[in-house]
Amino acid sequence: MAELSGKTAIVTGAARGIGAAIAKTLAARGANVAVCDLNADWCAETVQAAEAAGAKAKAYGVNVAASAEVDACVKAVLADFGRIDIMVNNAGITKDGLLMRMSDEDWDAVLNVNLKGTFLFTRAVARPMMKNKNADGSPAGGAIVNIASVVGIMGNAGQANYTASKGGVIALTKTTSKELGSRNIRCNAVAPGFIQSKMTDVLPDEVKTRYMDHIPLKRFGTQDDIAKAVAFLAGPDAEYITGQVVSVNGGMI
Ligand code: NAI
Repeated sequence: MAELSGKTAIVTGAARGIGAAIAKTLAARGANVAVCDLNADWCAETVQAAEAAGAKAKAYGVNVAASAEVDACVKAVLADFGRIDIMVNNAGITKDGLLMRMSDEDWDAVLNVNLKGTFLFTRAVARPMMKNKNADGSPAGGAIVNIASVVGIMGNAGQANYTASKGGVIALTKTTSKELGSRNIRCNAVAPGFIQSKMTDVLPDEVKTRYMDHIPLKRFGTQDDIAKAVAFLAGPDAEYITGQVVSVNGGMI
């Protein structure tokens, strides 16, 4: 039996990029997947790929930074799938600029999506996860995996808002693990390094070369590298792991 069979996973920001890879990997390992992004129509390809892997999958349009939308989304997923076992908080944005010139709007936008969005979905899934029971009545709980970033650990010039949001995600991960651990709800973070994606394709070549100088494995990461770490943390092989940050960065730090 596939390791995640019978489980339902919510993945945010899953229309493309790392989120899409995570949704597909969880589906391939047996989970049913609620594919969430700003616009449900953008999720068609991810839903199709998850279904092709044998999963039940459905798209949901939700702004992770909007409290009422998040609550409505979780309610809809429960109505459609009956349970929530895995929550992957992946949706994220950047609005880079030097601190001295950063606008309030750019600060708020990034903190709202990356950090508040992670908080809102975590709060919304906590109660349904607490209700999950094993056959013997013991708490089955759930697994929350938050996508942080290497720069949330080390800082990065030009990304005051983004690095603060990801550092916040790491702290939120640790607090969530402490508050929900007794209900067998685990919470861990994956901190990707430099991953090939639309977010990093736009960086100038000299920046990419500078990063490569600091990567012992001498390649940028792939979306699958992240998806595999998420699937591990979401699954039974990680049942005694919580409150941790797993760096997937080719040795960058
Ligand atoms: P991406 O830009 O390709 O995909 C992000 C997805 O999130 C998009 O589909 C977008 O529509 C969705 N999204 C944005 N705002 C949203 C909102 N308010 N509500 C719902 N969905 C929203 O980005 P990528 O590269 O796949 O990144 C995914 C995650 O990985 C992000 O949290 C990012 O910070 C993190 N990350 C990425 C790295 C990289 O090198 N690409 C490195 C470290 C972390």
